[in-house]
Amino acid sequence: MTRLTNLLRHISRHAPNMALPAATLRTGARMPLLGLGTGPGSVGTWQTSTEPIYEAVKVAIDTGYRHIDNAESYAEEQAVGRALQEKVGSVVERKDIFITSKLWNTRHHPDDVLPACQRSLTDLGLDYLDLYLMHFPVAWTRGDVYYPKDENGRAVLATPDVPFMDTWKSMEKLVDAGLVKAIGVSNFNISQMEEVLTNGRIKPAVNQVESHPYLVCSKLLKCAADNNVIITAFSPLGRPGEESLHGVSPLKDPKVVSIAEKHKKTPAQVCLRWQVQRGVVVVPKSTSPARILENSQIFDFQLSTEDMETISGLNKDARIVKFGMCDDHPQWPFNGEF
Ligand code: A2P
Repeated sequence: MTRLTNLLRHISRHAPNMALPAATLRTGARMPLLGLGTGPGSVGTWQTSTEPIYEAVKVAIDTGYRHIDNAESYAEEQAVGRALQEKVGSVVERKDIFITSKLWNTRHHPDDVLPACQRSLTDLGLDYLDLYLMHFPVAWTRGDVYYPKDENGRAVLATPDVPFMDTWKSMEKLVDAGLVKAIGVSNFNISQMEEVLTNGRIKPAVNQVESHPYLVCSKLLKCAADNNVIITAFSPLGRPGEESLHGVSPLKDPKVVSIAEKHKKTPAQVCLRWQVQRGVVVVPKSTSPARILENSQIFDFQLSTEDMETISGLNKDARIVKFGMCDDHPQWPFNGEF
C-alpha cells in the first residue's frame, strides 16, 4: 500500500502536464477518452456508503484522470462534488476537467429538466456541466422515487407518455442557458439516435451505451461516426465479479487473456485499449486505487490490427444492463439495433 501511495503521489506531481488523449465533440470541446465511472459497482445494487466514491474521485484526479462520469440516479453526486471541491482549483483547473451527468427517467417531463440539471449542478458544486445525457429513452412517472414500481415489480411509466423529443427540447434550453456545454443521449439504439439527429435543433454530441468485447455495437459505431456522434462505453470491463449473475466475463476470455500476455498488460487494460483505439470513450468504474491506476495505463501500447479484429470477433450481443422493468414500452431500446 505504501508503494502504491508513493506511486500515486509521484503521478500526481506529474499529472497536470499529462494530457490524456481526447475525442473532439461536435461542439469543438475535447472529451478525454478515459473517464472514471461512478455508477453502481454491481448489477442493480448501490454501495451503502458514498465514501468509497468520494475517495475514488480524489485518487482518480491525482492519478491524472480528467473526466468523471456521473448521473443523478447514482445518488453519489454530493460525494463526487465534495471530492471535486478539494481538487478543482488546486490539482486541476475547472476548464481542464470534463464532468458529465445524466437526466433520469423520472425527470423527462419538460418542466422537470431544468430543476434536475440544477440539482445535479448543486450537488456536484459546479456552475456548468461539460455534458448532460438523457439517461434512457423511456419516461417513468414523475417524482423523487428513482425506481417507481407497481405490484408486479414493473416500472411505473409516465402518464401521459413523454416522447423523448419533448424531453430533448428542454435539454436544448440548458445549452442556451449556458448550464451545460453539450447534450447527448444514453442507451439509445440506432433509430432512436437518428430520430434525435434528424429532429433536434441541437444534435446529440454523445451516445453512452454498454459496450465490451461481448457487446461490440459495431453498427452503432458506424452510424455514430457517420453523424459526428461520440460513443462512450459504460461497463467496458463487463462488470467483472458479477459473472454468476449475468454470465458475461470478457476479462476471463482466453483470447483477451492471450493478447494481454503478449503485450504484458492486464485483460482489463486490453479491453479498455481496444475501445479507445477504435475511438470509443471508456468510463470504467473502480473504487480501488490500484485498479484506478491500472485502468489509466492504456496509452503506452498499441493493439495490432489482428488483435483489434480478434477482440471485435468475440461479440455475442451479451447485454448486462437491460432495464427489463420497462421492456414492454414501445421505446424500450433493446429491441432495436446497436
Ligand atoms: P473495484 O471497484 O473493486 O475495482 P464496469 O466498469 O465494467 O461496470 O466494472 C466495474 C467493476 O469492475 C467494479 O466492481 C470494479 O471493482 C471492477 N474493476 C474495475 N477495474 C478493474 C480491473 N482493472 N480489473 C478487474 N476488475 C476491475
